[in-house]
Amino acid sequence: AHQWQGVLHEYRGRLDVTDATPIVTLGEGGTPLIPARALSARTGANVYVKYEGINPTGSFKDRGMTMAISKAVEHGAKAVICASTGNTSASAAAYAAHAGITAAVLVPEGKIAMGKLSQAVAHNGQLLQIQGNFDDCLDIARDLAANYPVHLVNSVNNDRIEGQKTAAFEVVDVLGDAPDFHFLPVGNAGNYTAYTRGYREDLEQNRTTKLPRMFGFQAAGSAPIVGGAVVKHPETIASAIRIGNPASWKFALEARELTDGYFGAIDDAKILEAQKILSAEVGIFVEPASAISVAGLLERAEAGQVPAGSTVVLTVTGHGLKDPQWALRGPDGTEVTPTVVAVDTDEVAGVLGLVRAS
Ligand code: F0G
Repeated sequence: AHQWQGVLHEYRGRLDVTDATPIVTLGEGGTPLIPARALSARTGANVYVKYEGINPTGSFKDRGMTMAISKAVEHGAKAVICASTGNTSASAAAYAAHAGITAAVLVPEGKIAMGKLSQAVAHNGQLLQIQGNFDDCLDIARDLAANYPVHLVNSVNNDRIEGQKTAAFEVVDVLGDAPDFHFLPVGNAGNYTAYTRGYREDLEQNRTTKLPRMFGFQAAGSAPIVGGAVVKHPETIASAIRIGNPASWKFALEARELTDGYFGAIDDAKILEAQKILSAEVGIFVEPASAISVAGLLERAEAGQVPAGSTVVLTVTGHGLKDPQWALRGPDGTEVTPTVVAVDTDEVAGVLGLVRAS
């Protein structure tokens, strides 16, 4: 039986991978594109969810990291560095561990989700909490890579974008064409840039008939691209995209231009509402940042901007188990406490509202 070999093997001919490249893979990619009946019913579009939480470390970052770490090793690197809101650090630490090299990761103090922190520690990353935000961490990581023998694996490294473009290839492999719209979260806008590149290459190779319109969403408290200005003190509960000065800002604007795309902002309450809709009505549990794709679709559909019958793909970027605390809150913010019942079948049946079959 065939086992998926990871994106560097599966898309070898479309990436800068040669016999000299030591492929470092954990089997990333090949994620499901799931038809989301409930979201189609809510919007009138044909909605599919690209479930990136299924990747080895639970986020889409693994696609870029297999490429970045493989190329780093090819070039003789013994240590890599990155700044991260959590997922990149988890992925870098895991792939570096697999390759037998060191990963140093810089994260904003107190601002990354527990699941991601524990991953970086578990994989033996050299984790430092910096007393600043993500943008400060990235400045330091770039400085270090310029002046010390460490290889930068943030998405300013083109290898990351190259690996991540494979997600667009997979969408086209399944749908047989590009979708009409592609919705995704935006932090540094590396993934927005990567999908656009993947779809553009598919069009150039006649694998598709069109480019999708790329619709990217930032959290309202961290929306520099939407506002057209750096946000000095970005805030949002969607910690993965708490970024005030996106590294791929310029590429993102080019990609929006090329695809007749859109950037929008969504507030935290709407993000959490969308997270709940996706988990309760579709059965897919994602972290808050990922739910912004769903919130963005619902908002744009409501605004009449998504014609009925359109094919829509939503990328949900990270698994819900990375940052589970938000699911344990009701819509009013109060904590959900599951009911406690005695060891008694009739009592359990009563609490569940079950009536005995006769
Ligand atoms: N969704 C999740 C779950 C993320 O972790 C990120 C970025 C994004 C979306 C946005 O992707 O930056 O390419 O626009 N996380 C980075 C990190 C910043 O350090 O893990 P982007």
